[in-house]
Amino acid sequence: MTDNETIKVAIEGIAQGRATVRIEGARVGVVLDATGLAAADRDALEARIRDVASAQPGVAEVRIVATAERSVRRLIAVASGKGGVGKSTLAANLAIALLRRGARVGLVDADIYGPSQPRLMQAEDTRPTAKDKVLDPVPTRYGVPLLSMGQLVDPGKAIAWRGPMAAGALGQLVEADWGAVDTLVLDLPPGTGDVQLTMVQKYRPVGAVIVSTPQDLALIDATRAIDFFDKAGIPIIGLVENMAGYICPHCGEASDPFGHGGAEAAAARLGIPFIGRVPLTIAIRTASDAGEPPAANADDTVFAPIAERVADWLSVH
Ligand SMILES: Nc1ncnc2c1ncn2[C@@H]1O[C@H](COP(=O)(O)OP(=O)(O)OP(=O)(O)O)[C@@H](O)[C@H]1O
Ligand SMILES: [Mg+2]
Repeated sequence: MTDNETIKVAIEGIAQGRATVRIEGARVGVVLDATGLAAADRDALEARIRDVASAQPGVAEVRIVATAERSVRRLIAVASGKGGVGKSTLAANLAIALLRRGARVGLVDADIYGPSQPRLMQAEDTRPTAKDKVLDPVPTRYGVPLLSMGQLVDPGKAIAWRGPMAAGALGQLVEADWGAVDTLVLDLPPGTGDVQLTMVQKYRPVGAVIVSTPQDLALIDATRAIDFFDKAGIPIIGLVENMAGYICPHCGEASDPFGHGGAEAAAARLGIPFIGRVPLTIAIRTASDAGEPPAANADDTVFAPIAERVADWLSVH
């Protein structure tokens, strides 16, 4: 056996059919098929291959290129038990903040009754086109392509939709031509009814972010949402508290119209991660109405840490 063959056998033994090895002189090149691997597993595999290859006599350089046959698209559901707590606001800003961290993110607005993403993302005037019945997402100025139920259905007609119909429509959005997008943020309609259940069972998000305001009543509803995902076998990425304290635009003083710390305490009680707090500010509301999500600003310190927690979770799931 030549040295080159020894090296190849060693690498292929570790990579279990995922590696194509080329050796030129002292240089070892490995193309690693990372299809289906979580980022953490791919990194660990790369590190092991690098260790073993560079330990071989005569090897001066190891180059590893990881490819994925088809990018593995993962859905993150943003949900709440109760309406109006800020799911859509969080979904839009989380998508942008994840993109700013380097993920390839798309946004799906699954709310048939009250779609809000076209306005939040300033894409109200654009309709998606379709090629061979496959939809093309609408580009937005924030770099996050978007598809919204609101762009497909006549809002007046959607009211009579049942779960399976809504799930079918969601399927068209999820299975659109997302190109290189690897992470889809899914803005769910409020509540935990049949529509949500059908959607979740059929399109199995990798995890769910639950949004709640600090009031007790909202937290009871959030508990119901957590239960709903538990029963569907979808892990909870964490709980976000929205409208967590009012920052006065005049004096900067914080007050707590809806109470304080309720969501963090509830998360601890329920044994789920608490992943961030978004204050109640007039700036967030006016920016949302104007289609200018605060996460797109360089000085955002509210949504970036939440995106970091979500990205950390994704890297090990
Ligand atoms: N942190 C915040 N500060 C100020 N206003 C906020 C904040 N979060 C959300 N809002 C405002 O509250 C309203 C409801 O928010 P949003 O539409 O995101 O909630 P939702 O949970 O998606 O509602 P729905 O259940 O109807 O889908 C919007 O006008 C939004 O701009
Ligand atoms: Mg909404």
